[in-house]
Amino acid sequence: MTPLTAEDSCALVIFGASGDLTKRKLVPALWQMFQGRVLPDPFVVIGVSRSEMTNEEFRSRMREAVAEFARVQPASQKVWDRFAQTLLYYSGDPANPALYPGLVEYLARVEQERGTGGNRLFYCATPPSLYPPLVRRLGEAGLNRPPEGSGGVVRIIIEKPFGRDLASARALNQVVASVFSEEQVYRIDHYLGKETVQNVLVFRWANGIFEPLWNRNHVDHVQITVGETIGVEARGAYYEESGALRDMIQNHILQLLCLVAMEPPVTFDADPVRDEKTKVMRAIRPIAPAEVDRVAVRGQYGPGFVAGRRAVGYREEKGVSAESITDTYAALRLEVDNWRWAGVPFFLRTGKRLAKRTSEIAVQFKPTPHLVFQRNPEILAEPNLLVLRIQPDEGMSLSFAAKLPGPDLKIKPVEMDFNYGQAFGGEPPEAYERLLLDAMKGDATLYARGEWVDMAWELLAPVLDAWAVGDATKFPNYEAGTWGPAEAERLIEESGRRWRRP
Ligand code: BG6
Repeated sequence: MTPLTAEDSCALVIFGASGDLTKRKLVPALWQMFQGRVLPDPFVVIGVSRSEMTNEEFRSRMREAVAEFARVQPASQKVWDRFAQTLLYYSGDPANPALYPGLVEYLARVEQERGTGGNRLFYCATPPSLYPPLVRRLGEAGLNRPPEGSGGVVRIIIEKPFGRDLASARALNQVVASVFSEEQVYRIDHYLGKETVQNVLVFRWANGIFEPLWNRNHVDHVQITVGETIGVEARGAYYEESGALRDMIQNHILQLLCLVAMEPPVTFDADPVRDEKTKVMRAIRPIAPAEVDRVAVRGQYGPGFVAGRRAVGYREEKGVSAESITDTYAALRLEVDNWRWAGVPFFLRTGKRLAKRTSEIAVQFKPTPHLVFQRNPEILAEPNLLVLRIQPDEGMSLSFAAKLPGPDLKIKPVEMDFNYGQAFGGEPPEAYERLLLDAMKGDATLYARGEWVDMAWELLAPVLDAWAVGDATKFPNYEAGTWGPAEAERLIEESGRRWRRP
């Protein structure tokens, strides 16, 4: 990662500092950036949330968070202490206007003492219902502008979920747009910060040989899978309001689809890249309400075994209703109606408590136009398959047919494989490191634009509407530790294809 310079120095104000995201992702990422010397100097974090805490208490909580969640541990107490000095805490309710006059003063004092200049980065890591009041309060307090005469820049990162349907996303976009200009707003989708996800574009456009094949003439279909073995863990209450379609497809998986389907941008800059993604969204065929059952399948896990261990059903999880019809599995068939992709279906699926933790993009190529070896009926050449493995076992493989050594003509599929760990060594940086760095630099290429988020909700609205109701007796419809409901097989098999078993 290219280190930030003093010009990028900033005060990072995290709202929701006592929450899960700060502990699991944000502070461990900042620590790793600090120890990798990519954070700007000076730099300061002000954690804000309702719990009463001193700076020291906040630091010691964050020390534990780093011990539990960071990739690299502090080499010594001295190194940790240097980082800990950048962590400050300010208690108060972000939704309450009374917090802000004090915060404005405190921030100005800290900026003065630490010499961070006027750059400010706000991070909304609170429960999503607080985003609208929080953004309004920032505006009322004048915190949407840099301090007078500082020449600084103010930016705001908004965590997902960005709304829970089209109407709420539009309303949130409106509030945000009434306080900040679009260039100040960074809507985060952490999948875009993953190395393997960024590599999709490098693979496509830093290599000359694949792009000519990347279209309807050669590609039969695309499968995008994000499988998780975990259940909803402690997030039952959140998940009841969300479900797999909202939680994973509306954001992460549609972003992946855009990266696979988009045209090359003129340059790798925020606007050209995001313009191309928007064009993909525009090309996706809208789902007619009457078609929902044909192109979308939902599922919910019941009890079962995952990796040999007993797992309870979704309805037994904490915070979940015993009659819940929330989807913990969602599969979708989409068509991208443009010159490049017409007639190439994109199959998307995701689920909790599946058989395997695996995220991948599989591009299935068409069979050869004519089978030269057809005189021998035993000879079946499998069409080529390219698999981009997002996680775990990050890498990619291309399968092709080879002659099995021996006197007979027999063909066997073999693989060319690239593995990140082997090729580059070490572990790649966490998605949040890259995304925080980009926001500090003012590079929004890997962030979602407002219109994109809107379009994603709009696309899924008919499915969300249809799934808002359902016959509770039909769930659970898949056992924990399997590949999802049987219905999902029908979704793909009626087109003559099959899901991969990664
Ligand atoms: C989050 C979802 O956005 O992504 C979670 O809310 C999910 O439900 C997580 O588990 C998956 O992220 P990752 O990086 O572990 O694939």
